[in-house]
Amino acid sequence: MLAVVVSEPGGPERLELRQVSDPKASHHDVVIRVHATALNRADLLQRRGLYPPPPGETEILGLECAGIVEELGAGVTTLAAGERVMALLPGGGYAERARVHESLVLPIPEALSFEQAAAIPEAFLTAHEALIGAAELAPGERVLIHGAAGGVGSAAVQLARELGAYVFATTRNPNKLTWLTELGVNQVIDTSREDFAAVVSAASNGRGADVIVDFVGASLSERNQSVLATAGRWIVVGLLGGTRGTLDFARLLGQRQTVRGIVMRSRPLTEKAAIVRAFRRDFLGWFDEGRFTPRIDSVFPLAEVRFAHERMEQNENLGKIVLRVA
Ligand SMILES: NC(=O)c1ccc[n+]([C@@H]2O[C@H](COP(=O)([O-])OP(=O)(O)OC[C@H]3O[C@@H](n4cnc5c(N)ncnc54)[C@H](OP(=O)(O)O)[C@@H]3O)[C@@H](O)[C@H]2O)c1
Repeated sequence: MLAVVVSEPGGPERLELRQVSDPKASHHDVVIRVHATALNRADLLQRRGLYPPPPGETEILGLECAGIVEELGAGVTTLAAGERVMALLPGGGYAERARVHESLVLPIPEALSFEQAAAIPEAFLTAHEALIGAAELAPGERVLIHGAAGGVGSAAVQLARELGAYVFATTRNPNKLTWLTELGVNQVIDTSREDFAAVVSAASNGRGADVIVDFVGASLSERNQSVLATAGRWIVVGLLGGTRGTLDFARLLGQRQTVRGIVMRSRPLTEKAAIVRAFRRDFLGWFDEGRFTPRIDSVFPLAEVRFAHERMEQNENLGKIVLRVA
């Protein structure tokens, strides 16, 4: 089959389309004929040699895909050949076929194309895990989402809004403000000219954000903590602004604040499967009801993957960047 391989660690020019051997479905796995996959920041790190796949998993990039079930392992009980599915992958999405455990596969909502479906698993399951699994968001709470115009951010905004939260969202790019407002953000903060902590504090009579969804980490840590409410939950999802920040432990203790990290790719299969099940039960139907829309920035043919990586590296995307495979 054709797949994108990293010839050696480095920039987007190191991505090459090559013939590789097909994956095989072992006991509880299925092989999906991939029609579309989508980019994640982790792919950029892995391409540069900074984020190796979990032991035993393929080196091929790609943490999600949408396509058709083609082959079933002998122990598969929940899927049949020919089904339209999308999946959370440990790797291997940038290829014509991908192998995945049956518990990480979801049916594609009827109204959605393969390209739309490919934009769902990583973004919406991560948003679900951050806002529900980790933060236990309640209706009426105030949520601050950094880097909200990206893939996971755009899913988190939709989920938080639908759960009845008041959503603040940041971007460093003034060109993304209108898009974020149209997405449903209550208050968009342009951090190229505004201090997000001051804005959230002023809008909440000094109470701050009950939940922070943080893709940035170190560079915002002091201001995040300063604007986290009493009993607030600060969920660290990404480290785009570095790994070592500062915490005020007196404030953490006195205000009963929680700082919690989440990770999807390297966690045990049973935990990922539980997230997939909960999302399927509670939220999958919301795509057909029009309450959720996978936000697609752009679609590139697989052969043009390097341009897709450049676009994400330059922070130009509004929502997900999709790769058309079939
Ligand atoms: N923990 C997990 O399991 C998990 C799962 C999925 C994703 N993630 C992580 O979550 C993060 C977001 O993923 P994504 O797919 O949504 O990425 P994305 O589509 O590229 O969006 C991220 C956005 O963050 C902003 N940003 C980038 N660098 C920044 C910096 N240094 N400081 C402040 N803002 C910055 C940019 O928005 P503006 O230019 O508008 O500011 C960018 O568009 C990534 O770090 C990713 O690795 C983690």
